[in-house]
Amino acid sequence: MTDFGGNRNSRRISVQPKKIVSLPRFSNNGNMKMDILLGLQWGDEGKGKIVDVLTPKYDVIARFQGGPNAGHSLEFNGIRHVLHIIPSGIFHKEKTNIIGNGVVIDPIIFEEEINALIAMGLTPTDNLFISRKAHLILPTHKLLDAAQEAHKGNMKIGSTLKGIGPTYTDKIARTGLRVCDLESPDFENKYRQKIDEHIEILQNFHFDYEAKLAELDAQWRKSLETIRKFQFIDSEYVVHQYLTEEKSVLAEGAQGTLLDVEFGAYPFVTSSNTIAAGAFTGLGLAPHYAGSVFGIVKAYCTRVGSGPFPTELFDETGEFLRKEGNEYGATTGRPRRCGWLDLVALQYALMINGVTDIALTKADVLDKLDEIKVCTAYRVNGELTDRMPSATDVEIEPVYTTLPGWKSSISNCKTYEELPQTFKDYIQFIEDKTHTKVSIVSVSPDRDGTIFRD
Ligand code: GDP
Ligand code: IMO
Ligand code: MG
Repeated sequence: MTDFGGNRNSRRISVQPKKIVSLPRFSNNGNMKMDILLGLQWGDEGKGKIVDVLTPKYDVIARFQGGPNAGHSLEFNGIRHVLHIIPSGIFHKEKTNIIGNGVVIDPIIFEEEINALIAMGLTPTDNLFISRKAHLILPTHKLLDAAQEAHKGNMKIGSTLKGIGPTYTDKIARTGLRVCDLESPDFENKYRQKIDEHIEILQNFHFDYEAKLAELDAQWRKSLETIRKFQFIDSEYVVHQYLTEEKSVLAEGAQGTLLDVEFGAYPFVTSSNTIAAGAFTGLGLAPHYAGSVFGIVKAYCTRVGSGPFPTELFDETGEFLRKEGNEYGATTGRPRRCGWLDLVALQYALMINGVTDIALTKADVLDKLDEIKVCTAYRVNGELTDRMPSATDVEIEPVYTTLPGWKSSISNCKTYEELPQTFKDYIQFIEDKTHTKVSIVSVSPDRDGTIFRD
């Protein structure tokens, strides 16, 4: 039987709980804020790339929600890397990376990611720390995800089948297992009890689970060897301590605002708070620590899975965006649905998140187009509106403004001045409509293809 003993890692973050329990030590003196980076659409906006590019400016990168449903890609030296659970600052060896309490962790996927990093010559045990309060995705959570999706038929969400919904369900039901349970001598019992409960539900679904569960259970137990090599921390204390020591922290979100469990098109959403507020619950900070909020925006829209997508294109332009933008899921490989930029949805996301800076990505995918459409209003039941409807069963007709294309390649531009005027006009159009500055322009998947304004 696998040894479920305590975390044996010897490298330690020096946080001494005795010293830091007194509140005044952490009262915010207004000096240090935590910046937040998140997606403003349906995910896959290019968060991984921008986090990687911004990491040199920070001491700490902390993921605050989601789990292996995320696929965050970044590229440098001609190689593409995809991260799922691990923060996108990990390739900068001298920076601290934290998996926060709001994240859900599948030890099997975690192990795969770690092995890939080690194969590249990195030593992630040195600069990656895991919150004791993060919840664990158990083998049966994945099977429940599959059983529930199958049961929903036409109403299926198109989940990534990584067990996200069932794990957050257990968290909210107060019956989940957390990373700190791995330190408990009673872990085997807790695990067994949970698996047995899940098996009962799977049986009610008439789900054929036995062979798959045996395989996953063996993998899961083995993968604990890897996660146990990492230091488990009370990350809320650690993040506060860093800020008190004037260290800079960037909170990394997963998914996108329009997949938020509260503000997305429910029920076609994920099961966590993907919005800026989620960074405070997902890391244990008070809201007054909010610094800059970087909202990542793709120059068009994509969505994987089911649910409303007002500007979705079913024609050759949609196909062009998918091909040109290589719009296939970084986690599941599924083709992404593609459509025009939606400023109604974007305004909503800017409002909910208090975005201070937009990072615009993938405009290079539009390089060859004669004209580019941008949705500036919706027509709902014959009425023009600039608001997102709460119901998901209403017909939304997008109202477009057509802008000229720039018809030249922007991928090699290194400065804002070098960009074609028509593209700068397009950016100006977005800024005028959203009253938000486009501070970062990404022109290629590579680290180097990034332009900072001012
Ligand atoms: P994330 O989930 O938000 O991190 O985004 P994904 O990694 O799932 O998807 C974004 C995809 O676009 C990845 O393949 C990136 O390498 C790529 N990408 C990011 N920024 C740019 C860009 O400016 N131009 C192009 N062409 N690709 C980009
Ligand atoms: P990143 O961080 C795009 C979508 C799924 C599905 C819905 C619910 O790479 O941007 P879940 O597995 O969370 O229960 O699925 O959310 N989804 C994503 N779409 N990017 C993601 O993450 C996503 N994570 C979940 O496709 O529609
Ligand atoms: Mg992604």
